[in-house]
Amino acid sequence: MNVILLGPPGAGKGTQAERLGKTFDLVQLSTGDMLREEVRGGTELGKTAKKIMDSGALVPDELIISMISGRIDRVGGKGIILDGFPRTTAQAEALDKMLAEKNLKLDHVIQLKVDEDALVQRLSGRFACAKCGAGYHDTFSPPKTEGVCDRCGATEFSRRSDDNPETVRARLVAYREQTAPILPYYDEKGALKAIDGMGEMDEVFRRIREIVGTVRVS
Ligand code: AP5
Repeated sequence: MNVILLGPPGAGKGTQAERLGKTFDLVQLSTGDMLREEVRGGTELGKTAKKIMDSGALVPDELIISMISGRIDRVGGKGIILDGFPRTTAQAEALDKMLAEKNLKLDHVIQLKVDEDALVQRLSGRFACAKCGAGYHDTFSPPKTEGVCDRCGATEFSRRSDDNPETVRARLVAYREQTAPILPYYDEKGALKAIDGMGEMDEVFRRIREIVGTVRVS
């Protein structure tokens, strides 16, 4: 099963992709995570991407397309969840071509719909374990023991540099202007399913499962 999760910054793509991946044994491919890895590694791509990401704009299509194509090749036959890709019409068209060349098909394109006030609230409270990367939120999903990571026990946490109010505003504009226009592209193919991304994380996951089914497929 191959799935795209679409939605604005903070819609819960990463949160739901992780759950979907564990439940259905799929590989989560997040272009945002890949770029942050490049930034940490100090690569040329990372250096170029860092400035763009901190401004809230999108990284150029050609860099993203070659990065993701290589990752899909390395998945080794498992199903994939695309989280944060495609984000422009050029990326959506390139993905179609890529999947056809690799003999893969797209099963579901799921759009998470969330109110803008909730997006800002979600992004402003987000943080992650500095050691293992487990994600948390100040209000909606804090660690069970304050200051201690549930997953690895570390006590250091970090916040994303693009989660500040000014960059969040720019990311929302980029979504509206460059990413939302790809929704009709998938709708015309009959592939788009929109769900309400508001409410508890478990409830949102239940809505996604209604679309992808409850039985594990691969
Ligand atoms: P990326 O890392 O993809 O960021 P994004 O799309 O802005 O999405 P986020 O990761 O911020 O949000 P999310 O929807 O995953 O929400 P999450 O589950 O974390 O991209 C970053 C940058 O990289 C881009 O701005 C761009 O520059 C570049 N880039 C990446 N891909 C690119 C591409 N394809 N082309 C060009 N440039 C690209 O949830 C957010 C918070 O809310 C968490 O704290 C979570 O705990 C909480 N939460 C989640 N669900 C709920 C819920 N139901 N109720 C309450 N809280 C919730």
